[in-house]
Amino acid sequence: MTRIAPSLLAADYLKLGEEINRMESAGVDYLHIDVMDGHFVPNLTFGIDMVAQIAKSTRIPLDVHLMLAEPERYIEAFANAGAAIISVHVEACPHIHATLKVIKQTGAKAGVVLNPGTPAESLTSVLSEADLILQMTVNPGFGGQSFIPETLTNIEKLAIWRRENNYSYLIEVDGGINQETAKQAKQAGVDILVAGSYLFQNTNLEEAIANMKK
Ligand code: DX5
Ligand code: ZN
Repeated sequence: MTRIAPSLLAADYLKLGEEINRMESAGVDYLHIDVMDGHFVPNLTFGIDMVAQIAKSTRIPLDVHLMLAEPERYIEAFANAGAAIISVHVEACPHIHATLKVIKQTGAKAGVVLNPGTPAESLTSVLSEADLILQMTVNPGFGGQSFIPETLTNIEKLAIWRRENNYSYLIEVDGGINQETAKQAKQAGVDILVAGSYLFQNTNLEEAIANMKK
């Protein structure tokens, strides 16, 4: 069953509570929260207190995507704030195996993220440690960009390796996901679809979610 994770980056920030309630009523599986530091990516977004307030206001599990240099410094804080999943970029983590262990020790699920230019092979030695692998299907930093189809190769490999070795990680995609690209991602083996603009700009949310799951 495909799971849906709306990205709050595309929400109306002045109505954040209402936006979250709308997603909760539509039955989404996670709320995806993009944390950017203006350094690892050229944009700034939400911080720890924001995640803590959101966690208190909803029962939807929070899927926290850290686009930070040195994300290790903030893992405990985001876990205490209420993150259910914490994902770090492999490009930002020289000790990715240890970092995934640190995330798990907090009780959160441990995710590792691949930029479009990073080969799936860079994760070979942490595949048994990861609870989730997030393939970026755009270059991280901004919502509303176009899906990069070449990233599907990584997803296909991750799905094959999981099948062959009985790994338990979930595969998630993030960036440029709409009805059409969701179909391609699912065919490649994806479990969780992140979508920002496609869901928040849709007047019929239930229909948009149903289209993504189809
Ligand atoms: C981009 C973020 C995404 C973004 C996706 O760096 O990681 O989560 O919100 O937005 P859309 O779905 O509009 O491409
Ligand atoms: Zn994201």
